[in-house]
Amino acid sequence: MGLIVVDNSLVKTALTALRDKDTPPENFRKLAATVATVVAAEAARNLPLRIAPVKTPIETTDGYYFERGLIAVPVLRAGLGMLEPVLELLPFAKVGYLGLERNEETAVASVYYSKLPPLEGSDVWILDPMLATGGSSARAAEILYSAGAESISLLCIVAAPEGVALLKREHPDIQIITASLDRELNTKKYIMPGLGDFGDRLFGTV
Ligand code: PRP
Ligand code: URA
Repeated sequence: MGLIVVDNSLVKTALTALRDKDTPPENFRKLAATVATVVAAEAARNLPLRIAPVKTPIETTDGYYFERGLIAVPVLRAGLGMLEPVLELLPFAKVGYLGLERNEETAVASVYYSKLPPLEGSDVWILDPMLATGGSSARAAEILYSAGAESISLLCIVAAPEGVALLKREHPDIQIITASLDRELNTKKYIMPGLGDFGDRLFGTV
């Protein structure tokens, strides 16, 4: 389906502060929420709607209502930093959880937790701020499709071209919405310029 890189001055400035290695976790969390809010608003742009009448105090006019359910699936841990802003914006969303961890040496993602509501008939948003090799997001998508997902979007904050290419190859139907498309991965599979380890910076576990 494609790649959307959000073009927004608020996102650019907040992302700059997220990248800054001296930004402490308490600020990092707020900035991550700001960026995630705009990314989620962009992802919501084309959610399917049904039209039905709404009575204003003056007259009746066409109203717009979300047609399908929405399920947000934060990928633990880092995806938790995007969950609250998504629920603020779209409070009717249900939430599933996937715990994935990249092996430090191989960057291969393994699953340690999965708790999902029924996915059929809803749009599914994977919340994972970092798309590096793409291994974690591709694994998340496999699990979600196997569990009945019909339409998946990936909401992230920083993406690398390598991860975008892997997802396009393995799951071409997924829409990716990111605040930034960075240059490349380094030899340790970290995104350059990136912002370091998102989970560690969010939770102060560096
Ligand atoms: C990070 C990040 C993604 C993954 C991206 O998680 O949150 O899930 O790496 O890398 P990939 O595209 O190469 O798979 P990590 O495994 O470090 O776990 P954490 O969120 O618990 O820190
Ligand atoms: N995960 C992160 O948190 N940061 C990266 O740069 C790559 C994977």
